[in-house]
Amino acid sequence: MRGRFYGAAVRADHILQDADYRAALVRECLVLVPELVLKWAHVEPQEGNRNFQDMDVIAALAFQSKLKLRGHTLLWHKSVPVWAEQRLTADRGWAPIESHIEATVTRYDGVVGEWDVVNEPIDPWLRSDGLREGIFLQAFDEKYIHRALRQARKLAPKSHLLINEYGLEYDDDADRKRRFHFLKLLERLCYADVPLDGVGLQSHLELEKGPFRENVYARFLQQIADLGLKITITELDVKEWDYTLSVERRDQRAADAVRALLSVVRDQPALRGITSWGLIDRYSWLGVTASDLARYPNAW
Ligand code: G3I
Repeated sequence: MRGRFYGAAVRADHILQDADYRAALVRECLVLVPELVLKWAHVEPQEGNRNFQDMDVIAALAFQSKLKLRGHTLLWHKSVPVWAEQRLTADRGWAPIESHIEATVTRYDGVVGEWDVVNEPIDPWLRSDGLREGIFLQAFDEKYIHRALRQARKLAPKSHLLINEYGLEYDDDADRKRRFHFLKLLERLCYADVPLDGVGLQSHLELEKGPFRENVYARFLQQIADLGLKITITELDVKEWDYTLSVERRDQRAADAVRALLSVVRDQPALRGITSWGLIDRYSWLGVTASDLARYPNAW
């Protein structure tokens, strides 16, 4: 896919411990994404006491090897430090978020080219507007997204600013609803002239959910592009289903799922690039779970 980037989510501890992994990252990737260490709860577990050491390990490798960085992520409901959640609940003031965004974006300005400013703002099940219930929405309504993007733009005017979302690929009820609410949110943001450059589509594929409907997904991508937004595939990976097959058949099924997605996204001119959620199976967050084991009780 000429003109588009490929990269992967990485962990600082693996970079430090595993020379083969480090070499593979440099060989395969143009872009690195921190899988864990730039999230708010990791960076600032106690107020004002920030740990950027782990992110600096990743930034150093990127600098030495002339790779770019994606910043994942400034605001995510699953990574709000306990102290910040308490403050936001108590006084609904923007100050903790402001100082978090300022410290993080400023430190990596000129180094991080693309920011996931808001991660996973959609939850299709509870509210009619499809916005996720949680501390950010409670304290600031939808305006938290506007404020975060405006602040990020001010601090890093040259960075590409995204909203990153999951569960948008398949033609089932949940994904259809998420696509609908995500597009509505994007329309409102564009109408309000909020500085949003693009979207991140996480793309955690699940073999349980297939088949993938190419025309449905292609139309969704085009609707995003029609709003003038760019597209990054941000967390591509495949959750397998039938672990009892031979390794070759399992690999084939995972490859087929990725090929089906890529055959659609590569034809969309708004696509900037793709990062997978990890580079190698050894360090994937997707392990075999207890319910995977229970599915084939006699096969193990
Ligand atoms: O490293 C510690 C280990 O020392 C400890 O014993 C163990 C006990 O729970 O936890 C380990 O840390 C875990 C870490 O992954 C490393 O494995 C954390 O508990 C766990 O919460 C963390 O999960 C990460 C998750 O985000 C939350 O930060 C996943 O690795 C990471 O892949 C996942 O990434 C998210 C994206 O940010 C957003 N989109 C979905 C994606 C997958 O869930």
